[in-house]
Amino acid sequence: MNHNSVIDRYCVMGNPVEHSKSPWIHARFAQLTGQALHYGKRLVPLHGFAASLRDFIDSSDGAAKGCNVTVPFKFEAFALAQHVSERAALAGAANTLSFSSSGIHADNTDGAGLVRDIELNAGVKLAGKRLLLLGAGGAAAGVLGPLLHTGLTQITVANRTLFKAQQLVQRHAALATNGTLVACTLADVQGRFDVVVNATSTSLSGENLALPANLLQRGALAYDMMYGPAAQGFLDWARALGAEPRDGLGMLVEQAAEAFFIWRGVRPPSAQVLQELRAL
Ligand code: ATR
Repeated sequence: MNHNSVIDRYCVMGNPVEHSKSPWIHARFAQLTGQALHYGKRLVPLHGFAASLRDFIDSSDGAAKGCNVTVPFKFEAFALAQHVSERAALAGAANTLSFSSSGIHADNTDGAGLVRDIELNAGVKLAGKRLLLLGAGGAAAGVLGPLLHTGLTQITVANRTLFKAQQLVQRHAALATNGTLVACTLADVQGRFDVVVNATSTSLSGENLALPANLLQRGALAYDMMYGPAAQGFLDWARALGAEPRDGLGMLVEQAAEAFFIWRGVRPPSAQVLQELRAL
């Protein structure tokens, strides 16, 4: 708690935001680490992100220390910040903002959250493996940089619209060694992969995936960045092909843990909180 006993305030800003699990996750993190803070949620009008953010900061008497940003404001959050981390710059989007006397700091913890969930919670080490990333929109852009830092030997970005996959790959070319990062369409995926990550915005199922069936290594990890019904079609498709399915609930908890660490300097017990969340 700071000297004037005002509790530090955080929130998640989005539209929709009603069903966000972030307030529960951060309250649990705070409880388990003994941090005094309040974490709420703010429904932001579709054209009102800047005003809403200003209001959160200005109306809190200095207690507002940061916020998470979710759909569809991650790009705007990035553009509004005075300071941006390298990973936010690569993604062109921010999911975590911190406020200080020098302004708004933007970061993006989505990629770190995905990598930590795959490596720590699912127990799959990415170094030396081949990964297929499906999609080239905001969700894919948010995770490609951190994936490139894991020592994967191959990352193929496959997207319905080839041009967008090529653009995303081009933007990350400096992080990749020759030939390890390639772009293609969904139908043109070549080779076999140890990990497939679905970062498309639809709940893809077998019929509308239009992917070659033989692209999964035996026992491959099939990861959907969404959870609940939205992830079901893709995970069912992968399971039927003998892959190990995993939804994005762990990524949600781990990106929150990374944000919590940025704000509080403490790592919460994220694996425990993920277990608790699954049991709810
Ligand atoms: P997000 O922020 O969730 O990534 P987005 O930026 O609109 O949302 O990107 C959506 C992604 O899902 C894109 O990769 C999109 O493919 P296109 O670039 O070809 O549009 C992909 N996507 C959406 N609907 C799809 C479908 N029915 N089949 C395949 N890919 C789809």
